[in-house]
Amino acid sequence: MNADPTPQGPPPDRVRIFDTTLRDGEQSPGASMNLREKLEIARTLASMGVDVIEAGFPIASQGDFEAVRGIAAEIAGSSVCGLARCNDRDIDRAWEAVQYAQKPRIHVFLATSPIHREFKLRMSREQVVERAVAGVKRAVALCEDVEFSPEDAGRTEPEFLREVIQAAIDAGASTVNIPDTVGYLLPHQYGAMIADLVANVPNIGRAIVSTHCHDDLGLAVANSLAGVQAGARQVECTINGIGERAGNAALEEIVMAIKVQRAEFGVDTAIKTERLYPASRMLTSITGLTVQRNKAIVGRNAFAHESGIHQDGMLKNRSTYEIMRPQDVGVPQTDLVLGKHSGRHALRDRIVEMGYTLADEQFEAVFNDFKALADKKKEVYDEDLSVLVDKQRGDVPASWKLVSLHTTAGRGLLPTATVAIQRPDGEIVQDAAIGDGPVDAIFKAVERVTGVHADLHEFVVRSVTQGKDAQGEVTLELAVESADASFRGRAASTDIIEASALAYVNAVNAITAKAARGHAREVVGRPGAGV
Ligand code: KIV
Ligand code: ZN
Repeated sequence: MNADPTPQGPPPDRVRIFDTTLRDGEQSPGASMNLREKLEIARTLASMGVDVIEAGFPIASQGDFEAVRGIAAEIAGSSVCGLARCNDRDIDRAWEAVQYAQKPRIHVFLATSPIHREFKLRMSREQVVERAVAGVKRAVALCEDVEFSPEDAGRTEPEFLREVIQAAIDAGASTVNIPDTVGYLLPHQYGAMIADLVANVPNIGRAIVSTHCHDDLGLAVANSLAGVQAGARQVECTINGIGERAGNAALEEIVMAIKVQRAEFGVDTAIKTERLYPASRMLTSITGLTVQRNKAIVGRNAFAHESGIHQDGMLKNRSTYEIMRPQDVGVPQTDLVLGKHSGRHALRDRIVEMGYTLADEQFEAVFNDFKALADKKKEVYDEDLSVLVDKQRGDVPASWKLVSLHTTAGRGLLPTATVAIQRPDGEIVQDAAIGDGPVDAIFKAVERVTGVHADLHEFVVRSVTQGKDAQGEVTLELAVESADASFRGRAASTDIIEASALAYVNAVNAITAKAARGHAREVVGRPGAGV
């Protein structure tokens, strides 16, 4: 094995966590985030001990560029990385975005598999090596820390993969990332690929080997861990496993597997594991992409014991059925939090414990909403608080405001909605519409008042907590064909009809804000989309 001690940074028994929630994760449908949301995620990642934050793909759009630049300017502790294809424009733009980071990194990639070479790039092996080397050299001339990825490494001929990796390291790459871009490999195959590179690339000791696995066969986490066992010392992953198609390896699962099975792996990460659950929840509340109940580590059922035999065992000794404690990953030990007699102090403590930071005026607004909710609902749970906090975090200016709402619906009746909405100039306008149901009627009435036409692509109602008095949270997505873009709206209320109206108006505000800024997101140039 040629694995010399790593040239710089932490000792070889430390696995770096490279989070790509804001880049590969954000590429998943429905996960796009605005600048403020991305900054909030980046702060959370940095505070939980993530080593590298891949903040975006700066050449992809002005929005991506600004997000990477904003994150680079603010974040301390973690490296901030921008993605680039192996061409001068991409690389220069990535550098422009990350240059003021405390620890900047440029990540260049180029596909290497025969299928990508032949059909996408139309390049020979020699041309691919030449382009990869040129890309790494250009990046190295700008930035000390450069990572290279041979896209679709998983389907690349082993001897060619070795050649490209050796050339990239010679050109100055200090991290070589090995993507299973299409999620094709099985764990023993992925592990063998990493082991082969570690054993047979002569200069491999000058770089850190990294894993990057997609979940098309549900094996992203298993493959990444096989990579670690074979010598990889960086894992690329995302919160909740969001990402292209079936997603990327889930950060929380990688981190906890390495922690719980420390004796087996013999390595550690620097992640503060008690931040995992709040981070998962924050991402869900920002994107509206919920995790399934039985999802490992962060799912609602991950620590629930239903069967009598299990409950009995747990009462006698928790280790009978529990390999980690809920508090190890930051799951609140008790669900019941506050009620209408709880004061500011108790609320602030709980919000901080849940991992949120709020400015004073945001906290005051949450406190007022909390009091109003506690009047309607006896018990206010963590999930309810998340929704209230989330409401204060949206940075979309509320140009249109729902003032009042009246609906009639029922068997044998024509569903009708009347809305009163305050326009951006302050005037209150009323209109009414009929629809297939009360929600459809509301959406039509709002459309009449605002003049904003969009197609409803998704409409999800979920109960925030248990119980008949639970808040219903509505998440919806509106697509605007002329802008080739979609916009999310989210709202919660104990009345789901009201929540639907508020969510719709929120999405209309997002459309209005985007139109005011005057630049729709470009959808070209995303990895995996013919680049
Ligand atoms: O899956 C992939 O190959 C990627 C690269 C850009 C690293 O995301
Ligand atoms: Zn990827």
